Amino acid sequence: MSFAAYKQADLEKFSGDGAEIENYLRQVRASRNLSFTSLISVDDLNMEDVKLLFDLTVAFKKLAVSDRKKLSLLRGKSIINLFFENSTRTKTSFELGGKHLGADTINFSEKGSSAEKGETVGDTAKTLDDMAADLIICRNSQAGMPYLIAREIDAPVINAGDGRHEHPTQALFDAFTICENLGDFSGLKVCIVGDILHSRVAGSLMRLLPRLGIELHLCGPATLLPEGVDQFTKNIHYDLDKIIGEMDVIYSLRVQSERDAMRYIPSKREYSKNYGIGVRRLGLVKQNAIFMHPGPVIREVDLSSEALGSSHCKIDDQVTNGFCLRMALMWLLIDRI
Ligand code: NCD
Repeated sequence: MSFAAYKQADLEKFSGDGAEIENYLRQVRASRNLSFTSLISVDDLNMEDVKLLFDLTVAFKKLAVSDRKKLSLLRGKSIINLFFENSTRTKTSFELGGKHLGADTINFSEKGSSAEKGETVGDTAKTLDDMAADLIICRNSQAGMPYLIAREIDAPVINAGDGRHEHPTQALFDAFTICENLGDFSGLKVCIVGDILHSRVAGSLMRLLPRLGIELHLCGPATLLPEGVDQFTKNIHYDLDKIIGEMDVIYSLRVQSERDAMRYIPSKREYSKNYGIGVRRLGLVKQNAIFMHPGPVIREVDLSSEALGSSHCKIDDQVTNGFCLRMALMWLLIDRI
C-alpha cells in the first residue's frame, strides 16, 4: 500500500469550502469503515484502517486551517475525556476536536470525583457509560486499563496513554507527519532517542513504524532501553553522534521523571550532553532530516532553543496533525456505517 500521496500540496485540491470538504469526508467514508471498535493498541489497526485515517486527516486539516471549523458530524453525541494523568496536548485536542465535530465533550478529572473516595477506574467508567456516553477516551498510569474498560462497557474506548505501554493516536499522527514531510515511508530511517524504557509513545511507534516500511533505530543509555526491545529492531545504538548523520527523522523523548526515570541516569545534564539536540548536533544532521518530539519538551535538555527554532523541527505539525487525526478517529468510531 502506498502512502506517498500525503504531502502539504495535497491540501491544495480543496478550495477550503466547508460543504465541499464535508462532502469529501462523507464520500471517503461511505465505501470504507474501520476494522476495529476501540483503539487500544496500534496492533488493532490494519493498513486499510491507517490509510482511511490518513485520507480523512488531510481533509480535516484543510478545515482546521480554514474559517469554517465547526461541523455537525457528531451533533447530539457525547464524548468523555477520562484522564487520570496530566495532559495538555492530548486532552485539549480530543476536547476541541470533539467540539469542532459538534459533539458535547466533558472532561473528567480525578480531583474532586468519587475516585478520591476509593471508586475503581473500571466502576467510574461504567458509571459514565450508563449515562449513554458515545465515546470514552482514557488515560491512566496503569498499562492495560483502557483494555479492561473497553471489555466492560458498551461505548468505544480510545487509549490516550496507558502507563509505559502504548499511546496509539500519537504514533498514528506522527507517522502521518513523517509522510507529509518526507513522502513515502519505505527506506526512511527513523531514530527514537532517549528514555525509551518509560515511553508509551515509543511503545506505539516501535510497533507501527516497521509495519509501514520504515527502518527503525533506537538510541539511548543502556539503562533506558527496555528488555526485549530487539523484537522491534536490531538497530540499537548508544552513541548518537555515530548515527545521527544517517537519520531522516530524529524523534527525541524527555526523561519521564514522574515514572522515576532519574534513577536510571547520572543527571539531566549528562543525558542532554549525550542525547540532546543542541547547536553542535544541528551541524551533523542531514539537510532534509526532521526533528520530532511528542511533547512536553524539556527545553535545553531534549532539544535546544536553536534546534526547536530550526527548519528541521516539525513539532508544530505534530500538534496540528494530532488534532486532525483525532477528529477523524472520533467520527469513525462513533458514527459507524
Ligand atoms: C506523551 C505522553 O503522555 O505519553 N505526551 C503526549 O501525550 N503528547 C509523552 C510525554 O509525556 O513525555
